[in-house]
Amino acid sequence: MANKTTLLTGGSRSGKSRHALQLSKAFGKKIFLATAEPLDEEMRKRIEIHQAERGKDWITREEPLDITNVVKNEAEKYEVLVLDCITLWLSNLFMNNENRDTILSKLHHFIAECKKTKIHVIVITNELGSGIIPMDPSARAFRDVAGEANQILAAEFDEVINMVSGIPVVIKSSKNENEDQVDSTNSRHEFSPQKKEGLYEAIYKRRDIRHFNSKKIDPETLGRVLNAAHHAGSVGYMQPWNFVIIDDPQIKNRVAENFKKANDEAALKFSDERQDLYNSLKLEGIEEAAINICVTCERTRFGPNVLGRNTVFDTDIFSTCCAVQNLWLAARAEGLAVGWVSILSYEKLKEDLDIPDHVQPVAYLCIGHTEAFYRKPMLESKGWAKRLPVEELIYYNKWQGDPGNFKVSFINKPSK
Ligand SMILES: Cc1cc2nc3c(=O)[nH]c(=O)nc-3n(C[C@H](O)[C@H](O)[C@H](O)COP(=O)(O)O)c2cc1C
Repeated sequence: MANKTTLLTGGSRSGKSRHALQLSKAFGKKIFLATAEPLDEEMRKRIEIHQAERGKDWITREEPLDITNVVKNEAEKYEVLVLDCITLWLSNLFMNNENRDTILSKLHHFIAECKKTKIHVIVITNELGSGIIPMDPSARAFRDVAGEANQILAAEFDEVINMVSGIPVVIKSSKNENEDQVDSTNSRHEFSPQKKEGLYEAIYKRRDIRHFNSKKIDPETLGRVLNAAHHAGSVGYMQPWNFVIIDDPQIKNRVAENFKKANDEAALKFSDERQDLYNSLKLEGIEEAAINICVTCERTRFGPNVLGRNTVFDTDIFSTCCAVQNLWLAARAEGLAVGWVSILSYEKLKEDLDIPDHVQPVAYLCIGHTEAFYRKPMLESKGWAKRLPVEELIYYNKWQGDPGNFKVSFINKPSK
């Protein structure tokens, strides 16, 4: 089964619960996750009526607070889960004295779990904000959190249906052809905490790797990584890159020879101890890596006048570097190791790979699997260089302008 998330919104008694049951009819095993606590007689009766309406093919689960846990640990046993309703859950948290930030963070965790399951998740919510502004400050605060929560859910869920007088009006469809429009009108552009964590983790755990094992690369994974590279920004949307994939051992050997010659020459630029240290460093994995990729920049693509490139001609090369960085990060997320080798005669490289004059090699990458990703840049652990304190690299308004107390921070602080 494929995952799908549906948000059913509307005023009270607009037919939301009935429509949720309607949507669930086609499914086999169903779970109804009720967030209401039967605090008084009226509520108890209402719950009983709802249970009777649902019939025997439903399992009812009452959970006023930890709905994320239910989705995480129980949802997979069913084909559809209906949560009725998120507004009561928010109210339960509110009554527990949770503040806005904690509530919204819990909501993001809940959404992440809903997206992880393989089942159809239908969440019912209430539109509270259309009536008279509440007199009571805490009621106003609750109304605001409920409104924000609805916006987040609507942005993250595949489908949103507004119930008006019993009629379902689809306001966001799961196959949304106007996705760009939905994004641009969504006031909350921020990623969820989990998505942010994933992105920052790829950034901090990306490493330049020079040690590879013999495991082959899955072609589908490589396809995803190259497509990520292809989604980089580029000047005038020029997309000047090509990816020359090399797995022929003879060609790899020629490039390795090219490296050896260039590296011997480079070593002479350093003297004494520094030269000894340089010579002890492993600065390539050309022949070990399952494949090599030469990322090139076709400098004449789109003709002589490319939007944005008439002033700074090298912006095509900058764009290609952006593609390489995308590739590097996507590869890290996929568990693939990448090592960039620039100690090469590009003239010789062009000759060996039949690259024409108007095309510039930008990056020569060794790609494969590794036994371990270095925790720190290898040049740092070998004592060649250290990471500079980022605060010293940030200026304010002008070169060397004092940024005051500006502090950088981390999500997923990289380990030392
Ligand atoms: C443009 C560029 C060229 C590089 N060339 C080489 C190279 O020829 N050999 C090598 O071992 N590493 C090379 N690297 C990798 C860097 O040494 C590495 O990025 C740096 O030490 C920081 O380590 P990290 O990438 O693991 O964070 C290159 C990196 C870049 C961005």
